[in-house]
Amino acid sequence: MQITTTLSANPTDDARLAEILANPGFGQYFSDHMLTIEWTPEKQWHDARITPYGPITLDPAAAVLHYAQETFEGMKAYRHDDDSLWLFRPEANAARMKRSSQRLALPVLEVPDFVEAVEELVKVDARWVPGNADGGEKSLYIRPFMFASEKFLGVRPAQHVTFMVIASPAGAYFKGGIKPVNLWLTEEYTRAGRGGMGAAKTGGNYASSLVAQQEATAAGCDQVVFLDAQEGKYVEELGGMNTYFVFDDGSIVTPETGTILEGITRASIIELAEKMGHQVTERRFGIDEWREGVTSGRITEIFACGTAAVVTPVGSLKWAGGEVPAPASQDLTMRIREELVGVQLGKVDDTFGWMHRI
Ligand code: PLP
Ligand code: COI
Repeated sequence: MQITTTLSANPTDDARLAEILANPGFGQYFSDHMLTIEWTPEKQWHDARITPYGPITLDPAAAVLHYAQETFEGMKAYRHDDDSLWLFRPEANAARMKRSSQRLALPVLEVPDFVEAVEELVKVDARWVPGNADGGEKSLYIRPFMFASEKFLGVRPAQHVTFMVIASPAGAYFKGGIKPVNLWLTEEYTRAGRGGMGAAKTGGNYASSLVAQQEATAAGCDQVVFLDAQEGKYVEELGGMNTYFVFDDGSIVTPETGTILEGITRASIIELAEKMGHQVTERRFGIDEWREGVTSGRITEIFACGTAAVVTPVGSLKWAGGEVPAPASQDLTMRIREELVGVQLGKVDDTFGWMHRI
């Protein structure tokens, strides 16, 4: 793929960048450049370019603004101690974007083109990838996204689509660092039904989660737990994370895929936990099993995982009629977190071949 580059005339100066990277938070600051590729049926993917980061022009009739034909990804670049830069499983993000785009009737950007686009932007904005000398577990969060940019109000797949990549230095997703997240069980709202878009990473799934997130915040909780839409009995996932349940015999259960977002962190943890000697089962997991398991002590740990949130212990679960407390332990959660972050930061051997050098 031919990518043209126009460098920013006003890149962020070193002092300001150091200040941002010392305490980046999540999703607040953006690197100096962005990548754009256009698609039309005639020309296919074309006009790939890296330009200074800035606002884009979109026609008010652009289909994405009306019908939400959009997909996105979330992934990270890490700086190792020798200053080399690495992506974690970028092919997996590329493959998932392909599946999401197929579900949203968007054109497919092939895996090598996706990976090259991400790599090129990170190379241009390499100084935005934070180091980890302070033990901060920082990274450059990368947000590829694709949207219907065609000016047309008829409801059909757009004939002009734009793919972009932006990047944002990231520290902890949750304020206050690694501490258990308390969850709100929404019994009114669901995230995805059979045949819906639950397995796709598309903005609409997040838009529909916000009112439930408002309920969670009002109840003093950090995140929402969504149940299946059909029976309202089985745990699906959180607003932005997958979940794991650890039993007192060391076995682990995670909800099966279908209507949930198939997390790349989720898939990686299945492999890591199995390597650590744990039996991992993907199956339907009832909300009653959660309540009963924590109360009886059979469930010893619950954790959630995702690119932005990494691996986070789960605390209490609240709903309109009650609450179950946090499970007793966080030991395995923290071991899995250390192992995963160790691989990502180059401190633990990458036996799975997950890391992709830029
Ligand atoms: N589930 C939802 C709804 C998410 O938004 C995310 C985050 O991307 C995940 C799960 C975890 O996916 P991944 O591990 O690929 O980041
Ligand atoms: C990610 O983890 O990459 C996500 O997209 C989740 C979102 C809540 C930031």
